Amino acid sequence: MGHGRILSGMRPTGRLHIGHLMVLENWVRLQKDYECFYFIADWHALTTAYEETEELKANIRYMLVDWLSAGLDPDLSTIFIQSHVKEHAELHLLFSMFTPLSWLERVPTYKDQLQQLGQEGKDVSTYGFLGYPLLQAADILIYKADAVPVGEDQLPHLEFCREVARRFNYLYKTQLFPEPQALLSRVPLLPGIDGRKMSKSYRNDIPLSATPDEVRERVRLMITDPARIHKTDPGHPEVCVVHTYHEIFNPQEIEDTRESCRAGAIGCVPCKARLAEKINAYLEPVRERRERLLRNPGILDDIVAQGSDRARAVARQTMEEVRSAMGL
Ligand code: TRP
Ligand code: SF4
Repeated sequence: MGHGRILSGMRPTGRLHIGHLMVLENWVRLQKDYECFYFIADWHALTTAYEETEELKANIRYMLVDWLSAGLDPDLSTIFIQSHVKEHAELHLLFSMFTPLSWLERVPTYKDQLQQLGQEGKDVSTYGFLGYPLLQAADILIYKADAVPVGEDQLPHLEFCREVARRFNYLYKTQLFPEPQALLSRVPLLPGIDGRKMSKSYRNDIPLSATPDEVRERVRLMITDPARIHKTDPGHPEVCVVHTYHEIFNPQEIEDTRESCRAGAIGCVPCKARLAEKINAYLEPVRERRERLLRNPGILDDIVAQGSDRARAVARQTMEEVRSAMGL
């Protein structure tokens, strides 16, 4: 510890996939050097899925199990659920008083998403959806986080958060909120098995909870170099999804894999079989942690209760300072 405070969150979208595992492993690494706060953003999930709340509780639980299986450690990090710390909502409300509408409308993801989700038949011309980045700013600033590990897609939200912090400090003549830095880490980007972006909704993902046989089946379905018809045809590993995965899960043999592919010396079937075993070996510790957890599922409630208490203590302190700065 000693490098400051980290905060990050994810919306509970259901079971995570191995693309998320790359992100989570980064969070796990940060646990050693930072004071970490990781939370499940269930209110943010409602900004788009306000009509489908039946699965929200289950999705939060899946996410929690996936996080802990990936190695997030409740003894090292504060792991909690956004809606269990109501102070986020109060800060969001107070921020909303001085945040210009134009700032929210200008956030690049806003108009894009409004249009895209509209095409998918979802009406998100709501107050909550417009305010998404402001709620996120409250999430971050209430812990006075120094850094936020996020993907590139979240950079506009981080910039927005910094503007909100500056405006608060300026309006109320205070230094209460530090401006958080984005922590862009090199997280390998795993494509889906069809080569598109990995997403549960495309059904091209490998779930984190996949059994060894399920992993073999998903790898068997991966698209390879379409120019290879016979196994002796020279291959082009650069266009092959299996090769991208070999780079991450089988780096020791990457030269050999490339050479044999280019030379037409290995068929795609054994190449995939080799990869599946590597992924399975990689997932083994994740599976063990999951099994251990699920043998004693009551522990999940304790972890969340304890994490939320710890988070709330910090959030309360900040809110006292905020109210005082604002003359409330
Ligand atoms: N918007 C983030 C995402 O979709 C989730 C999120 C909500 C978040 N609040 C946050 C991330 C605060 C970092 C910090 O991934
Ligand atoms: Fe892809 Fe392997 Fe087939 Fe080459 S041999 S095209 S790397 S699956």
